[in-house]
Amino acid sequence: MWKYISGIVVAGGVTYGVMRYFAGGICRCTTRLDGLVIIVTGANSGIGKALSFELARRGATLILACRDTKKGLDVKCEILVEIPSAEVYIKHLDLASFSSVYKFSQNISSEFREIYGLVNNAGIFYHPQTITENNFDITLQTNYLGPFVLTHYLLKLLKASDHARIVNVSSNAHRMVNYYDLQAVTTWQSEFRSHFIAYGVSKLGLILFTRELSKQLSNTNVIVNAVDPGNVNTNIFRYLPSLSNPWLYALQWPIRVLVVKSPQQGAQSALHALLTSNRSTGQYYSDCKLSLPSPIASNDKIAKEYYRITLDILADIFGTESDC
Ligand SMILES: NC(=O)c1ccc[n+]([C@@H]2O[C@H](COP(=O)([O-])OP(=O)(O)OC[C@H]3O[C@@H](n4cnc5c(N)ncnc54)[C@H](OP(=O)(O)O)[C@@H]3O)[C@@H](O)[C@H]2O)c1
Ligand SMILES: *[C@@H]1O[C@H](CO)[C@@H](O)[C@H](O)[C@H]1NC(C)=O
Ligand SMILES: *[C@@H]1O[C@H](CO)[C@@H](O)[C@H](O)[C@H]1NC(C)=O
Ligand SMILES: *[C@@H]1O[C@H](CO)[C@@H](O)[C@H](O)[C@H]1NC(C)=O
Repeated sequence: MWKYISGIVVAGGVTYGVMRYFAGGICRCTTRLDGLVIIVTGANSGIGKALSFELARRGATLILACRDTKKGLDVKCEILVEIPSAEVYIKHLDLASFSSVYKFSQNISSEFREIYGLVNNAGIFYHPQTITENNFDITLQTNYLGPFVLTHYLLKLLKASDHARIVNVSSNAHRMVNYYDLQAVTTWQSEFRSHFIAYGVSKLGLILFTRELSKQLSNTNVIVNAVDPGNVNTNIFRYLPSLSNPWLYALQWPIRVLVVKSPQQGAQSALHALLTSNRSTGQYYSDCKLSLPSPIASNDKIAKEYYRITLDILADIFGTESDC
């Protein structure tokens, strides 16, 4: 009898321990955000949605930037049920279209005088290869070039705030790619390598930008950081065959329950980057702690060079010189 009981207790303890371990860090900052305007892209689902709830609880004025404004409206209603006083705006934004990014930024600039936070959260993973209306690979444009352009369009409003923060939601997947992949995927997008590589490059690009932009903004009030949310159970896996197939998903379920974070847990590092009193910039957070990205992602020279390459391929959008 005692054997069974102690067996159950031990198994329960181990299960709990494993779940706690993979749940990762929790942001313990109690900072309030009353009256501060924060834009969250891809706010209608997963990490972006969970983060929006956290920010609304702390009093932020939210702009939910969604490509499907109807889904955005549903999230707004859910937030208002829990926090009736929340101030929430829904705006249309499709990161895979530069004209949409431009319209969004114009709209924000005409309605808001300053922005405290920009969270570049929206992203796609393992997407079938598609070329966007602007002739770029869809993963690179959605996850990297779109946020790049958006960030630059909004810099003026960010600089107008007493303090401002940009958070780029990157991924550990940036470790899967090498320097050659980075160059190849970005410069010759026809050299498509794999869905994983395309994703890894877009996320590595985001971290390199965090670095280079943090340098360019070093004497301003704007701090910029990248975060890795961890392995989170969201819709991001919709294109991944092993997880979008219900049978395969069911097989993996017992393990996923233990090791995969909930969206709320996944939102903690982004939340932390917005709230922490540590104003260091150009950093990479994982589990609410400063962490080190891959060696390529930490290389200032590559970051600078990659910024140049990005401006080159975006010459039609920005002209030849950056205006930031
Ligand atoms: N889940 C993970 O394990 C994990 C791990 C590392 C990094 N991340 C990163 O975390 C971020 C959030 O992902 P998630 O896991 O929360 O996934 P998700 O539930 O699929 O949410 C992604 C969001 O991005 C939006 N989006 C996609 N394409 C867009 C476009 N062209 N324009 C505007 N919005 C667009 C989606 O809108 P729709 O609903 O309209 O599609 C959705 O709101 C992503 O950057 C992802 O790479 C996730
Ligand atoms: C901004 O977008 C909102 C919602 O889409 C719209 O109601 C508003 O008129 C737009 N404002 C401007 C100045 O374009
Ligand atoms: C976020 O990434 C975009 C590129 O996608 C870049 O323009 C911007 O500088 C980055 N911001 C930060 C804070 O890294
Ligand atoms: C802030 O982060 C930096 C690393 O960039 C670290 O050296 C410093 O000790 C941190 N400051 C505090 C108060 O935690």
